[in-house]
Amino acid sequence: MRLVLVGPPGAGKGTQAQFLAAHFSIPHISTGDIFRANLKGNTPLGIEAKKFMDKGELVPDSVTNDMVKDRLNQGDLENGFLLDGYPRNVAQAEVLRAILAEKGTPLHAALELSVNNEEIISRLSGRRSCSNCQRPFHIENEKPAVEGACDNCGSPLIQREDDKAEVIKRRLEVYAEQTEPIISFYRNEGLLITISATGAVNEITESAIAALSRVK
Ligand code: AP5
Repeated sequence: MRLVLVGPPGAGKGTQAQFLAAHFSIPHISTGDIFRANLKGNTPLGIEAKKFMDKGELVPDSVTNDMVKDRLNQGDLENGFLLDGYPRNVAQAEVLRAILAEKGTPLHAALELSVNNEEIISRLSGRRSCSNCQRPFHIENEKPAVEGACDNCGSPLIQREDDKAEVIKRRLEVYAEQTEPIISFYRNEGLLITISATGAVNEITESAIAALSRVK
């Protein structure tokens, strides 16, 4: 299964990606997670990306496209992949289409997680993320088994810099201006599947798997 997850900040892409990637036995490739891992390691890529991420802006395509191309050339994609947070504008979607066409491995689907803005703000303001594996939790909706510690790896949970109210506002504007047009792009490609991403996390996962199992 070669899949991209599309949806606004806080739609639950990272939350659903971990279950979908496990179900289909494919790697979860999150551009946001790659940037944050680089930031933690203080690499030049991380330092460059931080300038944009902290303001809620997109990291320039020249940086992001090369990074994704490198990742898609690694040798663990025999079952496919799940891209989360990429593409994020039509130019990136066109680059991805070209990379995959060159490899003869086109996408099977673009899965859109649909959620309203009020729910998004409540999700992002209450989100806590693992400082190590980046698994998302929520102070009310998705509590960890042990307060302040990740269920996967036990590392401390932190609040992301870009989950501050003023940055959330800008991320939502950037989504509407730059990312939403990829919904029409994938609709025109005949690849778009939209599901409601409001409700219980496991029910959303089931609905995503049911929708994806109909993909040829
Ligand atoms: P990125 O990390 O991709 O952030 P995002 O798209 O803004 O998405 P989020 O991670 O905020 O949300 P999510 O949809 O994964 O939701 P989650 O599952 O965590 O990007 C960050 C930045 O990196 C960008 O702003 C940009 O600067 C840069 N960047 C990344 N990719 C780029 C690209 N391609 N080009 C250029 N720049 C790029 O869930 C959110 C919360 O809700 C959690 O607390 C969770 O527990 C909770 N939750 C989840 N599901 C439910 C549910 N069903 N009910 C209740 N609560 C729920």
